Amino acid sequence: MGRKFFVGGNWKCNGTIEEVKKIVETLNAGQVPSPDVVEVVVSPPFVFLPIVKSLLRPEFHVAAQNCWVKKGGAFTGEVSAEMLVNLDIPWVILGHSERRALLGESNEFVGDKVAYALSKGLKVIACIGETLEQREAGSTMDVVATQTKAIAERISDWSNVVLAYEPVWPIGTGKVATPAQAQEVHVELRKWLHANVSPEVAASIRIIYGGSVSGANCNELAANPDVDGFLVGGASLKVMMSTIPLGVWLVGFLTIYLSKD
Ligand code: PGA
Repeated sequence: MGRKFFVGGNWKCNGTIEEVKKIVETLNAGQVPSPDVVEVVVSPPFVFLPIVKSLLRPEFHVAAQNCWVKKGGAFTGEVSAEMLVNLDIPWVILGHSERRALLGESNEFVGDKVAYALSKGLKVIACIGETLEQREAGSTMDVVATQTKAIAERISDWSNVVLAYEPVWPIGTGKVATPAQAQEVHVELRKWLHANVSPEVAASIRIIYGGSVSGANCNELAANPDVDGFLVGGASLKVMMSTIPLGVWLVGFLTIYLSKD
């Protein structure tokens, strides 16, 4: 199907300028498969985007972690899609569960953001995922379908979207989704897209997994036919450095580094 493996590093709200520079140096020196095989995108906090972009090797790209829902203006503290485009930032992460939960971003708001960012020419890593309560109540698919529907209702071209299935419960909780659990949701998502968007989008869109991706599970996860990559966040990724699955270790290194006290 030719879906290129995608590895995203989500640095969240971490790092100093010195740390960021060191990490970029390490990335630049790393041996990774060619960009034909794997797409590597790192997402530093806004303030570090220009420096990371300017220092990073050209085949790696940067993503913002958010952007405003419409054109800029009197929205104190926000960063607009136009600003990202102006700085040549190609990607943006939208709808991360931390923003949905902590900042009250609704499905509709995330859908509006995705549509606006795409309309300005950004590529979007759109995050969806259920909470533990929702999983235990058996509503995982309803939740992720509703989240995806709010995006589908607002966009028609999915070619610049990567869908990140990030269940909330494996993020920083010690509970890890099994490869089978990830694969199951990815397959269901593809079925949903097939039925509700188009067979072409269902076949071509990259659905990546995020949530406690580690050296212990990344090979198995990547072996699943419907897992097209990862969004790697926090810590505990040390062992990745010895497993080297399609460059994941590289992003893992960033998160180890950033998670050090
Ligand atoms: P994690 O985070 O790898 O620390 O679980 C993933 C994410 O939040 O994108």
